[in-house]
Amino acid sequence: MFSDNKKTSSKFDIIPEHIGIIMDGNGRWAKKRGLPRKAGHTAGAMTFRKIARYASDIGVKYLTVYAFSTENWNRPEDEVSALMKLFKQYLEEAIRDFSEENMRIKFLGDISGFSSDLRELIETIEKNSADRTGMTLNLAMNYGGRNEILSACRKIAEAAVNGDIKPEEITEKMIADNLYTATQPDPDLIIRPSGEKRISNFMLWQAAYSEFVYLNILWPDFEPKHLDEAIEEFAKRNRRFGGV
Ligand code: FPP
Repeated sequence: MFSDNKKTSSKFDIIPEHIGIIMDGNGRWAKKRGLPRKAGHTAGAMTFRKIARYASDIGVKYLTVYAFSTENWNRPEDEVSALMKLFKQYLEEAIRDFSEENMRIKFLGDISGFSSDLRELIETIEKNSADRTGMTLNLAMNYGGRNEILSACRKIAEAAVNGDIKPEEITEKMIADNLYTATQPDPDLIIRPSGEKRISNFMLWQAAYSEFVYLNILWPDFEPKHLDEAIEEFAKRNRRFGGV
């Protein structure tokens, strides 16, 4: 659930414990250069690597990136398969080369929707990195906020039908505990680059009290200095969590 999660680090006086990023603008970045959309995703995947490392270096404890939504399957087949290839490449790299890094990798989403080789890589990296103590990197893949809440409701309804709980015993915590992010703090800051100002089915439950920062930069052009800018903006906000 939420707390006033502003932690101190060496570089910033105040740093959000959990940051969510809606990595948007790959397609427009490619279009501006006369390239196919998949070239934008390739560039976006490089940016993602850089920003994940940087976030970990500056002391962010949880970073959630929106890599593929439940709606993204509706994109042209060659774009979807280019994205799957990028995910595969990254996971293979993470399994092979990331043993030195202390990053824990977790997946938010319905992984049953992926091919068996991708699922295997997902399971391997989650298992290999489970005991690491550094930043948790959540990859939201085949993820939809409504779908996540729906599956939590189904699990709780099942417990009620089985007589394990009464409807009046259902709490917010019970719902939170049945989301992909169970045990993790809610995002303090959600960043959306590319100039779009909407939530697009991202962490709908968890974002109840998140601060939003929208940046006018396309994701492949996003640099560590833009993360700094968003954190500095966050530090100025007065979070009240519904109080005064
Ligand atoms: C939205 O931009 C972006 C996506 C749907 C894909 C995001 C994926 C990556 C950045 C690659 C991540 C890679 C790994 C390894 C996790 P868009 O295509 O909708 O851009 P547009 O709005 O400009 O068309």
